[in-house]
Amino acid sequence: MVAADNLQMTQGETPFDLSAYLQERQALVEAALDNAITLTYPEKIYEAMRYSLLAGGKRLRPILCLATCEMAGGTIEMAMPTACALEMIHTMSLIHDDLPAMDNDDYRRGQLTNHKVYGEDIAILAGDGLLAYAFEFVAANTQSVPAERVLQVILRLGRAVGAAGLVGGQVVDLESEGKSDVSVETLNFIHTHKTAALLEACVVCGGILAGIPEPDLQRLSRYAQNIGLAFQIVDDILDITATQEELGKTAGKDLQAQKVTYPSLWGLEESQRQAQQLIESAAAELTPFGEKARPLLAIANFITSRTH
Ligand code: FPP
Ligand code: MG
Repeated sequence: MVAADNLQMTQGETPFDLSAYLQERQALVEAALDNAITLTYPEKIYEAMRYSLLAGGKRLRPILCLATCEMAGGTIEMAMPTACALEMIHTMSLIHDDLPAMDNDDYRRGQLTNHKVYGEDIAILAGDGLLAYAFEFVAANTQSVPAERVLQVILRLGRAVGAAGLVGGQVVDLESEGKSDVSVETLNFIHTHKTAALLEACVVCGGILAGIPEPDLQRLSRYAQNIGLAFQIVDDILDITATQEELGKTAGKDLQAQKVTYPSLWGLEESQRQAQQLIESAAAELTPFGEKARPLLAIANFITSRTH
């Protein structure tokens, strides 16, 4: 892959152990997600929601939110409800993306997809349930944060998930399927909306909760857009180079579906170079935050070196 497969980042004297950091944060997020949804009547729907929400995954989105809030002077507690909401939104988008009406996928996060276990009807409703609950969860559980900041967070979440974000990106993605003349501009539109918009919401919401000033929010937004696009380029590369076991989902799907991807437009080497360049631009946005930005910097580098 692009960067060295070494998660130890050095800046100044002390090394930053990203893998320990991610492990520790993942455990906090897992516990919060587990507590967020309890089984009650009608159990079937809560079970289906929990099935996909607790299926593992890197928890990159919630961790980005927590890391940004802390970097900006806030606490993990202030950001945890939003971090969980972001994972609920991400999970619901994957449940719907895997449906027969969309990508018709059988595996996700190393296990059968939601509709394969619960049926299409319940999978659609599990996605709807998670989406609605995400907003309720932020509004009901955010503490020690002024109400106007919580309102800003809800606005940003709505924008990231709706037609101006994930939904819009997915529509253009579906429209582009089977077309061989998709331009880089269209591909960029798809991924800035389908992937980068939610990643942007993660860091921006973390910053908003901590009360970060507007110019810094804009820096964070550019950081996230760059890592979001790099994330997608690496995803496209991994679809070609990684195995199903490494990915936890079907490999080689893009080629099979004759999807236009960054490697199909640029080739593997150029795609890797572009991803690396985006990560460098993302890192540059973090300079004013100094030492405090080490987790965000390490996460940016991790994106290009990941193997699944
Ligand atoms: C995976 O892409 C899918 C997404 C990143 C999001 C898709 C968005 C939706 C289905 C919109 C749903 C949102 C609402 C609010 C209804 P991929 O298919 O390229 O990647 P994959 O290989 O992981 O499936
Ligand atoms: Mg898909």
